[in-house]
Amino acid sequence: MTDPARPRLVVLVSGSGTNLQALLDAAADPAYGADVVAVGADRAGIEGLARAERAGVPTFVERVGDHASRADWDAALTAAVAAHQPDLVVLAGFMKLVGPAFLAAFGGRTLNTHPALSPSFPGMHGPADALAYGVKVTGCTLFVVDEGVDTGVIVEQAVVRVEDDDDVESLHERIKTAERSMLVEQVGRLAREGFRVEGRRLLVG
Ligand code: GAR
Repeated sequence: MTDPARPRLVVLVSGSGTNLQALLDAAADPAYGADVVAVGADRAGIEGLARAERAGVPTFVERVGDHASRADWDAALTAAVAAHQPDLVVLAGFMKLVGPAFLAAFGGRTLNTHPALSPSFPGMHGPADALAYGVKVTGCTLFVVDEGVDTGVIVEQAVVRVEDDDDVESLHERIKTAERSMLVEQVGRLAREGFRVEGRRLLVG
């Protein structure tokens, strides 16, 4: 059940959706103070969408390939998200860059989680790039989405140690454990308390 008084979250996913599941589980408690009102994806048939369906949350899919141009896709994604009137949009393993139409509608209130400590290792392969570089600590970063690749104002970061015997999968799994806690805690806090951005700083409340 969604409560009209509670902030509305739309979550976008591209894969397994374990971060989404953490948000769904947290939001099931009324004390969390925010509702996941819809889940969108850029591809069909993924576990992230199945998780939403099992939780009784409406879903939608906008595939880039179904549109004549990237700009058309961006406009369609923006409209699909807007239909659910979100207060906050959360990209949780969403493997596409949103475009100008999306940012015009939801800039400043779209969060993304990245599996590295920004500004190190932006892009699609954060855990692999950290491992290849040989860093001893890496982690995850929650940030406010802007037009760059993982460049937005930082909300929170968590540090994860790289072990000598890590491979990309084991490292990414350890990062994702930290990421889920960070995401749940910070999304709830921002949704309940509100926030504003001043320069490179995010101020809560
Ligand atoms: C997460 O580690 C997230 O940070 C990453 O994908 C994973 C999704 O896991 N996102 C990116 O790399 C975005 N560039 P999940 O589907 O199990 O939540």
